Amino acid sequence: MRVSASMFLTVLALAAVGIPLNTRAQSAGAVAQTPPMGWNSWNYFAEKVDDKGVRAAADQLVATGMKDAGYIYVNIDDTWQGKRDASGVLHPNEKFPDMKALADYVHSKGLKLGIYSGPGPQTCARYEGSLGHEEQDAKMYADWGIDYLKYDLCSFREAVMAKQSPNDKAAQMKMMIAAYEKMGKALKATGRPIVYSLCQYGWDAVWEWAPELGGNLWRTTGDIQPRWQSIYDILSQQEGLEAYAGPGHWNDPDMLEVGNGKLTLAENRAHFSMWAMLAAPLLAGNDLPNMKPEVKAILTNKDVIAINQDAMGKQGRRVYSDGEVDVWERDLSGGAKAVAVLNAGSDRVSTHPFHLNLGKLGLHGAQSGKDLWTGKSVQLSDGMPIELASHDILLVRIDAPK
Ligand code: GLA
Repeated sequence: MRVSASMFLTVLALAAVGIPLNTRAQSAGAVAQTPPMGWNSWNYFAEKVDDKGVRAAADQLVATGMKDAGYIYVNIDDTWQGKRDASGVLHPNEKFPDMKALADYVHSKGLKLGIYSGPGPQTCARYEGSLGHEEQDAKMYADWGIDYLKYDLCSFREAVMAKQSPNDKAAQMKMMIAAYEKMGKALKATGRPIVYSLCQYGWDAVWEWAPELGGNLWRTTGDIQPRWQSIYDILSQQEGLEAYAGPGHWNDPDMLEVGNGKLTLAENRAHFSMWAMLAAPLLAGNDLPNMKPEVKAILTNKDVIAINQDAMGKQGRRVYSDGEVDVWERDLSGGAKAVAVLNAGSDRVSTHPFHLNLGKLGLHGAQSGKDLWTGKSVQLSDGMPIELASHDILLVRIDAPK
């Protein structure tokens, strides 16, 4: 494990006063004890997000039963920002006439409101960032009633890191960590519990240092796209990160694309299943008012959500692959286990089905479980053939594994 200089110093400081690291991370706030669930505007609406659309999304979370299934955060992504006034106060642009009123509306539905900024002078979509106004912005978010901040690196790279230390990558990384720490402290100083979501695409092993500066989740990769290859590439990049996730601090393989683009039903199902196995934040990113029933059925599958929200918070891991089929497992509370068999390749013919190897999963003999997509009981036995369509998945919960 690579330890950054600042993390090393933090470790020394905390060890000196006898505070275990995990206790300190937990005392930062009781938010995100399970992976955050909700909806974010970016993946479908991008710069078209506005007050009306956010209210509609909140209404739909309630009407579709998604709120009851656990989707609580309604997150406004980039492009809400207007200009700063003479006192440095940032005003929302014309798309958001009254952010406090919007927060009140979202809260009145029993939901929480999230917002977006970044440590640079500008956000990724070139709207006003928080550079030099971190405390002021954090206080304003708290005054509005904001419950979640996604903080996106973007222009901080060229405007600060590359400018101040053009030839020193290590110095650049220190600046980046300091910038995230600054906003972490500013949020904490508000006294309001605010989920802190780091978005810097997994640079400098963010999973090693983000929890100590108050990060509740951190992006591990570049941006997701509503295409199978993007989803599968991101999934493959999560291997080995399972050690870093736990209550209060999660790896973030990016928001959901379920229901977006041309993803097939199997692909939507597999994407959602694997984000559950990864203990990933479940932030739907689709057009909720026009959601198809089969997409709603995927997003509200309570058994799959229960895997994602398992209280132990242990992220799943890939156990083995056989050709293009990947087998993952996730340990759950009470000794239960989830097993996912994913056909990442093309259609397989019935004469060449995949054969399950229970021994590799540490299981002995036939196992009784529940197929979480058919809802039916299923028996898993060693060597059993499993036929899966291209990009489809078998997701099984075993309550009493042997
Ligand atoms: C970056 C982030 C995305 C989104 C956009 C907004 O690309 O990774 O998730 O927030 O910025 O501009």
